[in-house]
Amino acid sequence: MNNTPDKLTTRREFLKNTGRIAATSALAGVALPHVHAAENNTLQVALIGCGGRGGGAAANALSTSKLGPIQLIAMADVFDNKLNGAYNALNRTHSSQVDVPPERKFIGFDGYKKAMDCLKPGDIAIFTTPLAFRWVHFTYAIEKKLNVFMEKPLTADGPTSRRMLGLAQQASAKNLKVGVGLMSRHSRALQELHQRIQDGEIGDLMLLRGYRMQGLLGSAFSTKWPGTPSELLWQISRFHSFIWASGGGYSDFNIHHIDHLCWMKNAWPVKAQGIGGRHNKLSSDGSPYVDQNFDSYSVEYTFADGAKMYMDGRCMVGAHPIYSSYAHGSKGMAVVSHHSDCGEPSSTYKGQNPDRANQLWVSQIAPDQRDPYTNEWNELVGAIRNDRPYNEVKRGVEASVTTSMGRMAAHTGQEITFDQMLNHEHEYAPGADKMTMDSPAPIHADANGKYPIPEPGVVKDREYRA
Ligand SMILES: NC(=O)c1ccc[n+]([C@@H]2O[C@H](COP(=O)([O-])OP(=O)(O)OC[C@H]3O[C@@H](n4cnc5c(N)ncnc54)[C@H](O)[C@@H]3O)[C@@H](O)[C@H]2O)c1
Repeated sequence: MNNTPDKLTTRREFLKNTGRIAATSALAGVALPHVHAAENNTLQVALIGCGGRGGGAAANALSTSKLGPIQLIAMADVFDNKLNGAYNALNRTHSSQVDVPPERKFIGFDGYKKAMDCLKPGDIAIFTTPLAFRWVHFTYAIEKKLNVFMEKPLTADGPTSRRMLGLAQQASAKNLKVGVGLMSRHSRALQELHQRIQDGEIGDLMLLRGYRMQGLLGSAFSTKWPGTPSELLWQISRFHSFIWASGGGYSDFNIHHIDHLCWMKNAWPVKAQGIGGRHNKLSSDGSPYVDQNFDSYSVEYTFADGAKMYMDGRCMVGAHPIYSSYAHGSKGMAVVSHHSDCGEPSSTYKGQNPDRANQLWVSQIAPDQRDPYTNEWNELVGAIRNDRPYNEVKRGVEASVTTSMGRMAAHTGQEITFDQMLNHEHEYAPGADKMTMDSPAPIHADANGKYPIPEPGVVKDREYRA
C-alpha cells in the first residue's frame, strides 16, 4: 500500500532475488511510453481550482525547483476572484516561477481543458477543485498525457469510484505519474511508525481510533442560498455542505485519519456501521442550517480479521476538542497523529497507556523532512524527472470508498460493506463533465430552502432522497 521510495527499492530487491528482474529489464525498452519533462527540462504546471489548497499545492510544486526548473503557466477556476487571489499570492512569493498572463487564466467549467491545453505531454496538472470534478479532469489529463497531482478525497460515490479505478489503470498504462494529496503517507514520522508496526513493536493491531472533533469546520454548515451566485456556483463555493461536491464534512475532514490508520493495519475494512445526528440546527443569528451534514458521527469499521477502527467526527462549538489518532496492538500502542491530520511526533508504548514511563520510541525528524506536503511533491516530481513508477490513485480511491462507506452507514443507519459502497449505483453529480455556468445544481432545496438530509432507518438504500 505504500509508494515510498523505500518500498520501490524493496520491490526491486524482491524482483532481483526471485530472478524476475532480468525479465523486467528485457521488457523495459518496449513496455511503456516514456513521458517525461520537456526537452529544456522545465516542468510546466497548470493549476485547476485556485482556492486555499490550490494555492498551497502550487507553491509546493514550485518549491521543488532544486530538482530542476518548474514554472506555473496556466490557471483555471469558476470564480475569477479565487483565481486572481491565488495568482496574486503566488506571484508575490514565487514571482520568478509564475508566468500566467491574462490569456492563460481561464474562468468557467471548461477552463480545465484550456489550462491543460497550455501544457506539453509530461507536464503537471494540479486538481484542487472539490472532488466532484476529479474524474472529469483526470480523464482529460490522461488524454493529454499529463502527470497529475490531485487532492483528496477522490470520490464520494460508487460510480465515480469505479470510474477512477479504471482511469488509474489508464494513467499507469501511459506511464503517467499521479500523486494524491493524502499526505500522511509522506510523513517521515508515520513512515517510521508503519515500519515499526510491521516489525512487531506493538504486536498485532486490534483497535485503531481517529478523532476529528472541533468547532464548525469549513463550509459544512450553510444557511439558505441567498439567490446569488447561481445555485450551482453557490453549492460549489460551500462544497463541504453538499455530498455531491465533497462527500460532506465526514469525508472531507476525516479521510486523513481513516487513510493512515488503514495503512498502519495494511488493510481496508470490509464493513462499517455508524451513528450520527444533528444538534446544531440554527446558526448564531438564528437562521436555519440547510446543508446535508450531521454535526456528529461515530463510525465503527471492521477489518477482515475482526479488528476494529473507530472514527469519531464532531463539529460542535464548546464540546471537548480532540484531533489525533491511535493504534492499539497485542503488545502495546502507538500515537499515530499527535495532533491534526498527521502531526508529529508519532510514538509507541508498552501496554495501552501512552505514559512517558512506557515509551518505546518517539519520532525525531530532520528539519528538511518535516513537512509532508513538501515531501509528497518532492517524491512526485522526483518520480517524473527520474521516470520511476508513481501512481497513488488506486489507494486514494480505496481510502475514499472506505470513508464513504462509513458516512453511508451513519446516514442510512445500516451496515455497509466496502463492496456495497464501491458497487452502489447512486451517482451524486451525474453530468459533472457537462456542467456550464447555467447548469442547474445537482441537488435542490425544498420550499423552505432546505436540502435533503440523511434519514437513518427511514431512507436505507441511499444517503438522501433525491
Ligand atoms: N490535503 C489537505 O490537507 C487538504 C487541505 C485542504 C483542502 N484539501 C482538498 O482540496 C480540495 C479543495 O479544497 P480548498 O479548501 O482549497 O477549497 P476552496 O473552495 O478554497 O478551493 C476550491 C477551488 O476550486 C474552484 N472550483 C470549483 N469547481 C471548479 C471547477 N469545476 N473548475 C475549476 N475550478 C473549480 C473553486 O472556485 C475554488 O476556488 C478539496 O478536495 C479538499 O478536500 C486538502
